[in-house]
This record gives sequence, structure tokens and C-alpha cells, in this order.
Amino acid sequence: MVGPEQLHSAALLGRIDVRGVSFWYPDGTRALSAVDLVLAARRINVVFGPARAGKSSLLRLLNRLQDLVPGARHTGDVLLNGVGIFGPEVDVSDLRRRVSMVFAVPTPLPGSIRANLTYGLRMAGHRDTAFLEDRVEWSLQQAALWDEVKDRLDSSAYALSGGQRQRLCLARSLALGPEVILLDNPTSGLDPLSTALVENALQVLKDQVTIVMVPHSTQQAARLADRAAFFLDGELVEAGAGAEIFLGPTDKRTEDYVTGRFG
Ligand SMILES: Nc1ncnc2c1ncn2[C@@H]1O[C@H](COP(=O)(O)OP(=O)(O)OP(=O)(O)O)[C@@H](O)[C@H]1O
Ligand SMILES: [Mg+2]
Repeated sequence: MVGPEQLHSAALLGRIDVRGVSFWYPDGTRALSAVDLVLAARRINVVFGPARAGKSSLLRLLNRLQDLVPGARHTGDVLLNGVGIFGPEVDVSDLRRRVSMVFAVPTPLPGSIRANLTYGLRMAGHRDTAFLEDRVEWSLQQAALWDEVKDRLDSSAYALSGGQRQRLCLARSLALGPEVILLDNPTSGLDPLSTALVENALQVLKDQVTIVMVPHSTQQAARLADRAAFFLDGELVEAGAGAEIFLGPTDKRTEDYVTGRFG
């Protein structure tokens, strides 16, 4: 069982190495081609590029959600803190807690705000009320939602706005003490104000957790990226510091994309 100390010290980790990864769907579509990429610990790592570039395919590979696609296959390896994630000794549910996916459409569980946050912890065997209360507050604060909901933790999560739901889903992942959070277009359905709140939450969170994010737009990518990786047709074209990629890309295709010449 993971105690509060381990939950916090686990946040010191969270580096992912993608080594020579290619990935095929069962119909033979090659979604990733020989990708080598480092996702830096406790930074916002933006994965961007046009439609069908392979961004979602990559994210789903990082916590083995692609295992759920029968007949899909990959070559190469993905390392979390230097350890391969595809090894026979890897516990996949533990991996998915450590590398946690937040989906584009936020889907709270039925029940109260509090229950949304304690459900996973209870499933993991936590019963201590003081510990659970502490995790509820901590994770809501990390997701920049605490002030808005602290007086109504027992009301239904369905009463929250879209932006609040997205931060609740973020908090739900955080409650389990992940090392890496994967976000695939987390602000796609949100208005500008809610988008700004989610972006602010991510900026604060990166001190604790590695963030790997597919952005909604190139503008959002440029605002948030500590590191950026530009994908095109399953290929990693270029990766580097955010400022380099958006202000002085070395590859013509990256330049054409970030300056809006295609998209
Ligand atoms: N379940 C699937 N079965 C077969 N092919 C798929 C499947 N999912 C995605 N693909 C294909 O894999 C390639 C990469 O798709 P992916 O969804 O990873 O791209 P993306 O960069 O996330 O695109 P978008 O910006 O549209 O979300 C595309 O050619 C896509 O058609
Ligand atoms: Mg996608």
C-alpha cells in the first residue's frame, strides 16, 4: 500500500524515455515510426502536430492503454525512470496509476465530489478517514479547484461546469500520486476562462508531476511547453526546448507548421 510519504516522494520521479518505438494498429496502419524521445521529469512536455500525426497513439502507448487494442503491436521500448514498461513483471494497473491518463471529455463518476476523489484510494485499500480527507484537499488544491468546491464536497460532481469537471478529473488522477499525467487535448470542450484555469493548474502542477500533453492549438502549445515534440505522419520531426521549437525550429516542416503555413 502506498502511504502519504511515498505518494510525495514518488513525485520526484517521472522521466520517460521512448526508444526506437514503432507502432501498428491491427489493420496495418503504422501510427508511429522509430520514435526516439525523452519526456523530461516535472516539466510540461507538449506533443503536437496535425491530425493523424500519431500523438494520441503515443500517449496511449505510454501507460499501455494500447494493450486494449487486440492485434496492435509495437517495436522498441518505453522506459519509466529507466525501467521498461513492457516487461513481464510490470503490474499494468500500477503502471496506469503511476502514468495516469486524463481524457479530453471529462467524465466524473456518479456521486459526490468527495467520492470521486476517494474512490480510487479506497480501491487501493486506503480506509483511514484522516488520510482520505487529506488527499481530497491536497489533490483539489493541486488541480486549482479547492476554493471553488470546498464548501460543497458532498454535492454531485455532475453539478460542476465543464472546466470544473476537467479539473476534478485531474484531481482524481492526482489523488493516486502519479509520476506522470497524460493529457490528450484536455481543454478541447472548454471556454477561454476554463481553459485558462486548467492551464494555470498545469503550470503549478509541473513542480510535482511530469506532464505530457497534446495541446488544443499551436498557441496553447507555445504558451505551455517547457519541452515540445513536433510529429508528422507518425514521425518525430523535431524535439527540444519549447522556446527553440516555437521561435527557432531547425526543420522546415516544423517552421511551416508553427507559422501556420499548414495545419
Ligand atoms: N484504433 C485505430 N485503428 C486503426 N488505425 C488507427 C486507430 N487509431 C488511430 N489510427 C490511425 O493511426 C494514425 C495516428 O492516429 P492518432 O489518432 O494517433 O493521431 P493524432 O495525432 O492523435 O490525430 P488527431 O490530431 O486527429 O487526434 C492515423 O493514421 C489514424 O488513422
Ligand atoms: Mg489524437
